Amino acid sequence: MKVTVVGAGAVGATSADNIARMDICQELVLLDIKEGIAEGKAQDLMQTAALLGFETKIFGSTNDYSKTANSDVVVITSGLPRKPGMTREELIGVNAGIVKGVCENILKFSPQAIIIVISNPMDTMTYLALNSTGLPKNRIIGMGGTLDSSRFKYQLSQKLNCSPSKLNAFVIGGHGDTTMIPLIRLATQNETPVTNFLNAEEQKEIVNNTMVGGATLTKLIGTSAWYAPGAAAAALVKAIIKDEKAMHTCCVSLDGEYGQKDICLGVPVIIGKNGWEKIVDFELNEEEKLAFSESAEAVRSMNKLL
Ligand code: 2OP
Repeated sequence: MKVTVVGAGAVGATSADNIARMDICQELVLLDIKEGIAEGKAQDLMQTAALLGFETKIFGSTNDYSKTANSDVVVITSGLPRKPGMTREELIGVNAGIVKGVCENILKFSPQAIIIVISNPMDTMTYLALNSTGLPKNRIIGMGGTLDSSRFKYQLSQKLNCSPSKLNAFVIGGHGDTTMIPLIRLATQNETPVTNFLNAEEQKEIVNNTMVGGATLTKLIGTSAWYAPGAAAAALVKAIIKDEKAMHTCCVSLDGEYGQKDICLGVPVIIGKNGWEKIVDFELNEEEKLAFSESAEAVRSMNKLL
């Protein structure tokens, strides 16, 4: 198996780090447009192999897409990250051109690849990747909901004083501070609804903190976060390569599911060797349905800017 990560910034390099440690592919290519960065980070990562005990071979490339040939999975992290006070949406102009170009170059050498989109604004970049490549829809996956669901579990774990891994919780809708929908009604701890343990005010606080999870980190760090985004990308790569049929929330093309069409938005999906293989139909209540259609409208108006 071969995986390419495009963009050797913090998110790209962390994705590569996690993927290499999992030992799920023989070859991993890190590519960046800036001279030497990808080669340097690839070497640095390879120098952890003896310490961490993985076999993955990591290569770096300065914009030479022939090195990415025959990749099974490609993770696109290219583009500008957000700065404090910026929304993900403000990045659309610059990042749209970058993501479109990256997709074209990737497909020249890896026509069968499954593409995972991380670049922001992620919902619109996923829609762009789908429409500009014309690939079958199951091969284009936006990562946002996987990350947001993990941030949601973190927020829940803080209030419930438990390990995030003991929680089951999903964030659907857009990957924007105002468009994501943490489904607290359906979240469980050891199969028990978390709403049994949290009062209305606590629930509201968890939901709000989840929605601004990325912005909170951007303010603290001075740029966009990378550990959880990199881990989320790696979890999706693993689900594809190992044909896990695992449920993750991902941004995928909707064709009537959840009442939406001609849009890519976060919904629960089954991930396996063919990319996203099936959309899981959660029964939403009226309030959640309304939030989902408002989220879709906001993302749709962003897509129009393309
Ligand atoms: C985030 O930190 C990368 O959009 C990303 O939310």
